Amino acid sequence: MLLGSGELGKEFVIAVKRLGQYVIAVDSYNDAPAQQIADEREVINMLDGVELDRIVAKHKPDIIIPEIEAIRTERFYDYEKQNIQVVPSARAADFTMNRKAIRDLAAKELGLKTAKYEYANSLDELIAAIKVVGIPCVVKPLMSSSGKGQSVIKTDDSASLITSIQKAWEYAQAGKRGDYTEVIAEAFVKFNSEITLLTVTQKNGTTLFCPPIGHRQERGDYQESWQPADIHADYLKEAQAMAEKITKALTGAGIWGVEFFLADDGVYFSELSSRPHDTGMVTLAGTQNFSEFELHARAVLGLPIPEITLERIGASAVILADKEGIAPSYAGMERAMAYKQSDLRIFGKPVTRPYRRMAVALAYDKVGSNVDVVKQRAIEIAGMVKVSPSP
Ligand SMILES: Nc1ncnc2c1ncn2[C@@H]1O[C@H](COP(=O)(O)OP(=O)(O)O)[C@@H](O)[C@H]1O
Ligand SMILES: [Mg+2]
Repeated sequence: MLLGSGELGKEFVIAVKRLGQYVIAVDSYNDAPAQQIADEREVINMLDGVELDRIVAKHKPDIIIPEIEAIRTERFYDYEKQNIQVVPSARAADFTMNRKAIRDLAAKELGLKTAKYEYANSLDELIAAIKVVGIPCVVKPLMSSSGKGQSVIKTDDSASLITSIQKAWEYAQAGKRGDYTEVIAEAFVKFNSEITLLTVTQKNGTTLFCPPIGHRQERGDYQESWQPADIHADYLKEAQAMAEKITKALTGAGIWGVEFFLADDGVYFSELSSRPHDTGMVTLAGTQNFSEFELHARAVLGLPIPEITLERIGASAVILADKEGIAPSYAGMERAMAYKQSDLRIFGKPVTRPYRRMAVALAYDKVGSNVDVVKQRAIEIAGMVKVSPSP
């Protein structure tokens, strides 16, 4: 049972269907990408524990695979007691949906290097928190994803500072998920680059790492990702050690997207997903012997992953909608698909809205070639596809 049926879920369903699995795809709306290819579907509000219990009792799945964070994850502990495998584990899914749980585990319990941070439950507490972490800083709701409710406070002019803190507080309250008002204020890390380290934990206890993925974020969503990212061998080792520590502490088998900032003063742990990562869509360009979805499938099913190898270099660039509408068509595919060493994935989302990710352009070349060239090609291809909702 897949909880969340977006584009990452769709590729995961393709991977497990190839291994003969029977899939029930769940989402809050009908005809979500993964539902289009699953065996069965359910449309429910996954934050509603009663609804979740109802469909789990109805289908009696062997495995529950969360694809998103916005789920009543407290219920997962119960499902594990019923001998259902929760991926990667109830603990991991429950912790990763709340920034506080993850940040305290990383910084306080495991001693990983993170940006300085403080929590705040009110505007006054936020003003005090920002005094501690300093300016510039980033304010985020504890529960949110895709940059929702996040803002950066830059000004150090005392008159406008209070106004911008107030704005950040209100923005976080408007962008939060659920009824949790608490926010985190993090010192802004002046990073040179950021990476996702796809990490695979297996039932046999061995942890594997994919070659690091570089990415660029805008409005809290990734725009391009590329693999391998250029990172010093010592930094990579450090990141791998941190990823192993935190995934072990969260327990379970599956793929994780562990996010790091690379700065002049070292590697910072940022956050992690206990599921395939959007920036990992670059692996759909055949960069590895197994895509992140195939790796997840094997890890979840307890099947061997003898090794992870870099087969090509590659890049992905997102294709976004720019207005609200339904039943979109995609102009420019002929030109976009005429490129060599390139490909396109259209997710099949039935509804568009501004900035919604609808498709992804992929480009690749042989190992050792220039990643920037491949990235530029992916961006060029993405720019040719125009998402047009039905009139
Ligand atoms: N402390 C920080 N310093 C600098 N940039 C940050 C910081 N926190 C977040 N960002 C930027 O915002 C992006 C989204 O933040 P993240 O914490 O990963 O939220 P989300 O859960 O929405 O992905 C990051 O990938 C990074 O580019
Ligand atoms: Mg992130």
